[in-house]
Amino acid sequence: MISQALLEARKYEEAMEKRIPKEDKPEFHLSPRVGWMNDPNGFSFYNGKYHMFYQYHPYYSQWGPMHWGHAVSEDLLHWEYLPAALAPDELYDKDGCFSGSAITLPDGRHLLMYTGVFQERTREGGVSDIQTQCIAVGDGVNYEKIEQNPVIDEKDLPEGCSRHDFRDPKIWRKSDGTYCCAIGNRPADGSGQILLFTSEDCFKWNFKKVLIANNNRFGKMWECPDFFELDGKWVLLTSPQDMLPEGFEYHNGNGTLCLTGKYDEETDTFIAESDQSIDYGIDFYAPQTILTSDGRRVMIGWMQNWDACVHSKEDPWFGQMSLPRELFLKNGRLYQKPIRELDEMRCNKVVHQNVSFSGIISLDGIRGRKIDMELTVRPGDEQELYQKFAVRFAQNEQYYTALSFRPRESILKVDRKFSGSRRAIVHQRRCQVNTADGELKFRMILDRFSVEVFVNDGEHVMSATMYTDQGADGISFFADGCVNIDVVKYDLV
Ligand code: FRU
Repeated sequence: MISQALLEARKYEEAMEKRIPKEDKPEFHLSPRVGWMNDPNGFSFYNGKYHMFYQYHPYYSQWGPMHWGHAVSEDLLHWEYLPAALAPDELYDKDGCFSGSAITLPDGRHLLMYTGVFQERTREGGVSDIQTQCIAVGDGVNYEKIEQNPVIDEKDLPEGCSRHDFRDPKIWRKSDGTYCCAIGNRPADGSGQILLFTSEDCFKWNFKKVLIANNNRFGKMWECPDFFELDGKWVLLTSPQDMLPEGFEYHNGNGTLCLTGKYDEETDTFIAESDQSIDYGIDFYAPQTILTSDGRRVMIGWMQNWDACVHSKEDPWFGQMSLPRELFLKNGRLYQKPIRELDEMRCNKVVHQNVSFSGIISLDGIRGRKIDMELTVRPGDEQELYQKFAVRFAQNEQYYTALSFRPRESILKVDRKFSGSRRAIVHQRRCQVNTADGELKFRMILDRFSVEVFVNDGEHVMSATMYTDQGADGISFFADGCVNIDVVKYDLV
């Protein structure tokens, strides 16, 4: 049975999407069908297609009662919308169907596990969330919430665990056929932790242990965990709220954290050995991963910063996902590269090699807002190292966004101050990159409203959105001192 609330959402999105011209949205980054989008949810492969659900408020381009939007794709780049999958229509989720994940059951059904939010009146006259874990089962289009919901609630929580901050279940199947679920929670110390639950059948769940406690080390509450094996190690991705910057790490307030370490599957013990940010730009949060059938671990995040969601209330849509990025470990670090399917969208190759210059130049054929561009920058003068190199893009007489590199400090900076924003939101982020002798290699991908920069084959990644008018498609290069560059650019279609 499809509820009235879901029917209404489906009718609304179908009617309203027609009012949004395709050119007003990203081309190969998933954005909401209409209205608001945040976290990726239920990222999975089911019935021959990749499925992506998302935190969704169809009726308004601001956060509101959370639904799950839904889209499918064969290559993770061309997405087709399906009708909204979940609406807040039960008592236990009447205030929102928050983030969660998906898995295929042995009988072929698709299972979604999400956080149901129910708001309780407090004695002081306010409201406070009660968060529980709930299940809906379906066929890839329609999903039915099960009668036993919620399947995990405060009764299942050990002493000291908050029932107010208890969300974002990520399920996976172990090699022995049983199921595990990692859920973000706030313990008594007010920070975050990840709880591990186990199940024989994916419906009845038991608390197993605290997989890892934050102990106020990285921010506060930990949201949206994902936990998987990668290149012989185990990786926990989570998005802590309220992080403090440390050197060049964790500058995003609500940021993203990657912990890499050892996991003993017998005893469910995870020992973290190293930590890093996942993305060093401005806009990235709450990523989810899947393992593709050919063994690649692919991650997609919400390409947005919670503190920078400032936009016109009239906008028909807001929020977009990042590129799908293949993950791998190299020298103990998490590396990311755009999935290779993107290469198939490349056309109109333009190459400029060995261009030495100082001051400002533009290059024939180098422009565009849907492009894939590789740059190698090196000193153009053996005697004197240049001070600064910059590439300006999404540029016209008035606007541009810039990526600039100072070799003496090894700092790469993204700056969207002149992108057309009229608000005092964060516009810059700096990243300390590895470079020797003033040489740097990076690849930047633009898709109308965003830039994602993969430095040194994915050692650092910086993502930022910018909503500059699409007519601003110029690109220019700037050098203080003498630099020598190679540029290879493709249009993406
Ligand atoms: C993270 C988050 C999740 C929650 C969802 C609500 O961005 O706060 O923890 O499930 O968004 O929309």
